[in-house]
Amino acid sequence: MSKINAAITGVQGWVPETILSNKDLEKMVDTNDEWIQSRTGIVERRILKEEGKATSDMAVKAVQQLLEKTNTKKEDVELVIFATVTPDMLMPDTANTLCDKLGLSNAYGFDLKAACSGFIYAITVGAQFIQTGMHKKVIVIGADKMSSIINYEDRATCIIFGDGCGAVMLEPTEEDLGYQDAVLRADGSGREFLYITAGGSKKPTSQETLDAKEQYVFQDGRPVFKAAVKGMSSAITELLKRNQLTKDDIAWLIPHQANKRIINAVASTLDFPKEKVTVNIHKYGNTTAGTIPLCMWEWENQFKKGDNIVLTAFGGGFTWGAVLIKWAY
Ligand code: UT7
Repeated sequence: MSKINAAITGVQGWVPETILSNKDLEKMVDTNDEWIQSRTGIVERRILKEEGKATSDMAVKAVQQLLEKTNTKKEDVELVIFATVTPDMLMPDTANTLCDKLGLSNAYGFDLKAACSGFIYAITVGAQFIQTGMHKKVIVIGADKMSSIINYEDRATCIIFGDGCGAVMLEPTEEDLGYQDAVLRADGSGREFLYITAGGSKKPTSQETLDAKEQYVFQDGRPVFKAAVKGMSSAITELLKRNQLTKDDIAWLIPHQANKRIINAVASTLDFPKEKVTVNIHKYGNTTAGTIPLCMWEWENQFKKGDNIVLTAFGGGFTWGAVLIKWAY
């Protein structure tokens, strides 16, 4: 029996219409457009502003279009893996909410929480279900409504993050295409640099935690920056070596969009040409689990069947890694 590979057969993104520009942020905190652009590469980001709208609502839009694009009947979807750190609610899972909202009546799903590495972890999990033959249609989503956990009085974080969503369809193929390999890593000691203090079982929300604004993301940027460059570069190096590939064999590098300087540093460390690196951070900022599928969606028309593509991410946890795929269409 030939090996079953997990091919990406479609990708779709969705971002909210409302734009929060650097100029807007200048009016909210002590910052300026020049600082933000030179330190991060971000010009603007999207915000899901409508009252009551949540992460699942962004995914509904993306997945609806993904189903149309891939000619998939709702009843044929078997599994939804939803990478997010901003679930609609702590319970139930956003994946199940999405299945209900879209009428994916034969699917089950679960959320996966690995911060900015959420999508690369999730696509790896999704690919296993296809490769074992257990499922034939798996949807993997990376989506975050970061505006719901950001303190817009904290200039260290509010300039970075935005809201957005991307989703891919995974299906079996016997061709040598699709998901190939991954180097995934984690180091829980990194939790001291990037976290949300309250709202979990360690410190449930109370008036005191709300007064201290502990429901929001805290980041000590410098150590995260350094660890991100080192983590992504070493994961890519290991992945290429293990697959007997050099940088010249890679058609595209799709890095997590956290900071343009981090992306440039990773590309320079690997001596990887900038033209082959997808960058859209100027438009969307850091959408956490959304950045990689949003890049895939934007560059989809430039990918060719058989292209070797490396996805790489680093985020809270710390979590990081690199995934090798062969584009399937
Ligand atoms: O996606 C999840 C993983 N996250 C990341 O990968 C993010 C990693 N970190 C970063 O991207 C960067 O560290 C930041 C963009 C968060 C910060 O950039 P930085 O170059 O590391 O700045 P810094 O925190 O070292 O601050 C430099 C200076 C400080 O002033 P002093 O102490 O030098 O006087 C800050 O107070 O810039 C100041 N500063 C700002 N100034 C204007 C910090 N934030 C701002 C701001 N506007 N928004």
